[in-house]
Formats: sequence, C-alpha cells, structure tokens
Amino acid sequence: MTCIICQEPAVSAEPRLCQAHFTQWVEETVRETITAYELLKPDWRIAVAASGGKDSTSLLSILKKLGYHVEALAIDEGIPGYRDQTLEDLKTFTQQEGIPLRIIRVAEAYGTTIQHVAEAQRIIPCRVCGVWRRRLLERAALGEGYDALATGHNLDDEVQSLLMNLAKAQLSVLARQQPITGGDAREGFTRRVKPFILLSEKHIALYSILKRFPVHYTECPYHSLGFRHRMRIPLSYQEKKRLLLSHYRMQYATREEPLTRCRICGLPSSRSVCAACAYAKSYAGNTSQNEDNP
Ligand code: FES
Ligand code: ZN
Repeated sequence: MTCIICQEPAVSAEPRLCQAHFTQWVEETVRETITAYELLKPDWRIAVAASGGKDSTSLLSILKKLGYHVEALAIDEGIPGYRDQTLEDLKTFTQQEGIPLRIIRVAEAYGTTIQHVAEAQRIIPCRVCGVWRRRLLERAALGEGYDALATGHNLDDEVQSLLMNLAKAQLSVLARQQPITGGDAREGFTRRVKPFILLSEKHIALYSILKRFPVHYTECPYHSLGFRHRMRIPLSYQEKKRLLLSHYRMQYATREEPLTRCRICGLPSSRSVCAACAYAKSYAGNTSQNEDNP
C-alpha cells in the first residue's frame, strides 16, 4: 500500500497517505474546517478544553502550529487512576510547548465528587461528569474572557451525539449540534468550536502517535456503561462524514425553549436551576435532559 501522492509506504488507508502527507492532510483538514465554518479569528485568545488525551493534545498542537494563541483549560474530575495520569501527560506537553495551563478541580468547585452524586442519583458517572465538565469550562472561559473555547470533538463523537439525540428525540438539542455553539448562536456563553469534526478518531489517534505526543490511550473507566458507547456504528470515514454534513445542512423546525438564567450559578439555562447546579445540590429526578449527552 503506497501513498497516492508520493508512492512512499502509506501509514493510513483512508485516505491512503504516507507519514508526511498524512500529517499534512490532518493539519490542512483542520485549517479548512476553521475556514469553512468560520470557527476562529486569527487574533483571538482561544481556550482549548484539554484533558491530556490524544484529541485535545493534538488540537492544542495543531492550533498553535496554525498560528493561534492557545491556552489549555483542564478539568480534574477526580477519577482515580485515570485523570491523574492524563493530567501528568498534559503538564508535560504544555511545558514542552510553552502553553499556559489552568486546572479546575471538580471537588473544589462543587464540594463533592462525581461518583458520590452518580451513586445518589443512580446514574452513570459520565452523565454527571459531562454536565459538570461542560459547565466548569463555560464558567472558566467566560470568567477569563476568552474569545472561544475549542474542544477536541471528532467525527465519531459528533456522529454518536447525532444518533443519541435522534434516539432520544431531543430535537432542539439535535438542531443546536453544529460546528459552533454558544456565543453567536445563544447569548451568554463563550463561543464553542469544534475544529476536528471532519477527522475521525482513528485519524487523530494516528496523528498523535506519529507526532509522538506524550499521551496514554486510556478511556474513562465508566465509558462502556454509557449509551454513547452503544452508538459506535461501523461506517466508513466517508459515510460518517456524509451523515454529519447532511445533518449540518438540515433545517430543523424546532420550538426553542426560552433561555433564562440558572438562579444558582447565573449561567444561561432552559430551567430555573441548571443541570449542573441540580447535580451539585443532588436534586432528585432526571435533571440533564436538555444538556449535552455525555
Ligand atoms: Fe467522566 Fe466518564 S466519568 S467521562
Ligand atoms: Zn506521500
């Protein structure tokens, strides 16, 4: 199997490219995604939601390489044996690259642990984790005045979210699932952008291996318990891309819930107490219907 551009041995099958052309293609795809969806402006200060994993580390590196001013914002969810390792990797990487890093600890922010709330509510930890992580990132991004918050969501993540929102008939959440959310789209949030939506998980894993980033290829230990895990479908790269792009083109007729502010944290919410604060107070019931699907 040889590269379709230079006939060197290929490292990737779809697209069939050698190491040099593959890394170039990944970076070019990110540049094109940013341009096509007008995700970022050159003089912006950008926070990257960083975990020390392959996606966010590659994102930090590529955005920096493309000339953007990036800083890393990390959430320590306090998952023993998992996050401590990836945060060490992140510290190593940001130090090597001279990228500022800020770590926010869930236990300090909410005064309790994800596992504790999940047990009390009889739900999987990833659900609480998704809501809290997102809220803490939004709060930090707003508080620090960043122009945008970039996340490492890739094509596979986006297709899984798409199917989950469809399966749960969450039409307004589905309609808002776009390359840019918050900011322009809805008042009161920092603009959130996803520069990796046209790259698959495999592409980013390979890129991070070829670049020898100091990352461990681990997953959240509770991951396989989640609905998201079951939405991994065996489609090719082009098929997944087609699915996602069709969704972006679709015009959904939805009735948006009026956006108010959470009376506890003050951030925008469709209910009087947002899901993040509801978990923190351990309110009973299904509180995360209108938030992202972790
Ligand atoms: Fe954080 Fe599973 S507990 S993603
Ligand atoms: Zn080549």
